[in-house]
Amino acid sequence: MSGEQLNEVRKVIWLTGASSGIGRSLALGLAAEGHQVIASARSDVELAVLETLSSNITALPCDITDASGLSFLRARLSHLSSHLDQIILCAGNCEYLDFPEPDWDMVTRVMEVNYFGAVNCVKTALPLLRQSAAERPHIVAVASMVTDAPFPRAEAYGASKAAMRYFFDCLRLDLRSEHIDVSVVNPGFVDTPLTQKNNFPMPFLLSAEDASRRIIENLESRPKNYSFPKRLLCLLAVSKILPALWQKIVLNGADGKARQDVLNEKVGE
Ligand SMILES: NC(=O)c1ccc[n+]([C@@H]2O[C@H](COP(=O)([O-])OP(=O)(O)OC[C@H]3O[C@@H](n4cnc5c(N)ncnc54)[C@H](OP(=O)(O)O)[C@@H]3O)[C@@H](O)[C@H]2O)c1
Repeated sequence: MSGEQLNEVRKVIWLTGASSGIGRSLALGLAAEGHQVIASARSDVELAVLETLSSNITALPCDITDASGLSFLRARLSHLSSHLDQIILCAGNCEYLDFPEPDWDMVTRVMEVNYFGAVNCVKTALPLLRQSAAERPHIVAVASMVTDAPFPRAEAYGASKAAMRYFFDCLRLDLRSEHIDVSVVNPGFVDTPLTQKNNFPMPFLLSAEDASRRIIENLESRPKNYSFPKRLLCLLAVSKILPALWQKIVLNGADGKARQDVLNEKVGE
């Protein structure tokens, strides 16, 4: 697809994490709305399948942690479009520390994808966002509601998402004079390959389709932060108001069922 072709349609969006879960649903949802989606992930096979589902989707396989390949990645993006109107940084990795003998290297591994990977994408895409004819180009970072409360074993994942959230909250200030908006999206639990390996209760679990629909609808108003579902956000507020109770909730009961019951009781389900 040539740059000229891409420029004829609505928004040109670079979306990472498009091969699976929330990102895949976002790609299909945005393409269905007529936007031109440049879809990235490492899995070229999955991206090729995605391309067959909509003529508005163009695959751009890449590893966002490959800092040495960023100029080449920018060149490949520029080849597809002379500009970007929006980037949605959805690629992510979640691994948990196992005590008493954690794999400490994993902290670096998770940070490399979730934090440095996202920064790499901003570095790559910013010149193309500056070329946008849109009144306000838009950077969207998919962080997580995990940053609203401490969870056992989530040191690496939570810290990477907190770093991400802080980075983008600051970036918003620095790009304001250039009229580039920055939104941070914080999903709760969403049923995807990333969470399907979890062996603990996930209250208010949403489908990837539901999550992507909410994200697409809410991004229209360019929120600084968008956290969903609200019921989970209220529940996580317990960690700040009553930290001792929160600790009891997340640590209580070795089996997940006990914790699920406490959680449901707290929100009056
Ligand atoms: N599911 C949830 O409950 C939940 C909650 C809060 C936040 N989130 C966040 O939402 C985002 C999407 O998560 P998901 O649940 O949809 O997970 P997922 O199904 O596992 O998707 C993760 C995506 O990231 C891509 N990715 C991973 N490492 C990459 C790398 N080095 N370079 C390029 N792409 C890479 C994966 O593609 P390849 O493997 O093909 O590269 C895949 O497309 C993540 O940032 C996650 O942290 C998820």
